[in-house]
Amino acid sequence: MTGPSRKIVDVLEGKTVTPPPIWLMRQAGRYLPEYRETRAKAGSFLDLCYSPEHAVEVTLQPIRRYGFDAAILFSDILVIPDALKRNVRFVQGEGPQMDPIDVQGIEQLKTDGVVDHLAPVIETVRRLRRELPQETTLLGFCGAPWTVATYMIAGHGTPDQAPARLFAYRHPTVFARLLDFLADVSAEYLIAQIDAGADAVQIFDSWAGVLGEREFEAFAVRPVARTIRAVRAARPGARIIAFAKGAGMNLKSYRQQTDANAIGLDWSVPLSFAAELQKEGPVQGNLDPMRVVTGGRSLEEGIDAILQKLGHGPLIFNLGHGITPEADPAHVTDLVRRVREFTA
Ligand code: CP3
Repeated sequence: MTGPSRKIVDVLEGKTVTPPPIWLMRQAGRYLPEYRETRAKAGSFLDLCYSPEHAVEVTLQPIRRYGFDAAILFSDILVIPDALKRNVRFVQGEGPQMDPIDVQGIEQLKTDGVVDHLAPVIETVRRLRRELPQETTLLGFCGAPWTVATYMIAGHGTPDQAPARLFAYRHPTVFARLLDFLADVSAEYLIAQIDAGADAVQIFDSWAGVLGEREFEAFAVRPVARTIRAVRAARPGARIIAFAKGAGMNLKSYRQQTDANAIGLDWSVPLSFAAELQKEGPVQGNLDPMRVVTGGRSLEEGIDAILQKLGHGPLIFNLGHGITPEADPAHVTDLVRRVREFTA
């Protein structure tokens, strides 16, 4: 690459950048009036995901407003089940829904046509790399096999993913096949994103926290390690952030076993433990998104605690999970300013 270096790429390669670069999970979303405006024009949520024109626009909105160090492709982790013909739909106020998959459905899953179905998303990545400022890192992403499987099995979101846990205990072999299948399809999808211009990719395991110790190893670590291995075999040096929400103590071995460049930390990870994890490599996180709703002192205190504990090593400043629709856009301006005022 010629021109200015991309700070998040530098951190992913192990450098400490001061002040730390920043982006926010779900930075394009309903808390922004300009997002709501484009969303209304685009039709359904999936129409927005599959429209390169509108998806590029909403990806760029938070970059224009805040100058984040990374843009994240606008799409959803559930475009994979959609490409697998699970009839995915997003019902206003009810979250995502799809046809629940059963044993027979899993046995019949085929990779044919999946990446073709996702061609508009790949086109969005291609256009974004052309339109973004040189210095802005472009992130692609996918859901981790476990998290995507939880929605495929239940057919909708649940508070604790009990349907997927039950299915996994009842049908261990078939469930393992589903995870392997999703790991391989996800690798293909991430490779296409990288080829289209993504500088790095993030794997979201939002439901890792409901797993017991053995299940974390089998359902979270192993499939993500399989995806990362496949991506790196095809694209050596591919940069990957792995975010296992609620993984707690399990994060100790997570980076080592998955070989991710950086690990994402949710807000429940104690900063002293986060500092230990950072000795082994870059970390990303972990401000409580509720502090962006409240703003003021609570926002400043949360930011300062993270910078004090993690600001002297390889850190990508982020929230501990996605920003919520209730967040005040002005608080995000305050957040970015305060992080950028940090001096080592
Ligand atoms: O971060 C970004 O700005 C990029 C876009 C992005 C979205 N979803 C857009 C979205 C990303 C990276 C995701 C990931 C995603 N999607 C995850 C993993 C991260 C996490 O938040 O845990 C999960 C579990 C999903 C599944 C999903 N998509 C749910 C449960 C919902 C409904 C909940 C909600 O907030 O409404 C979605 C919908 C969704 N995905 C929206 C956005 C902006 C809101 C839909 C709308 O605009 O109407």
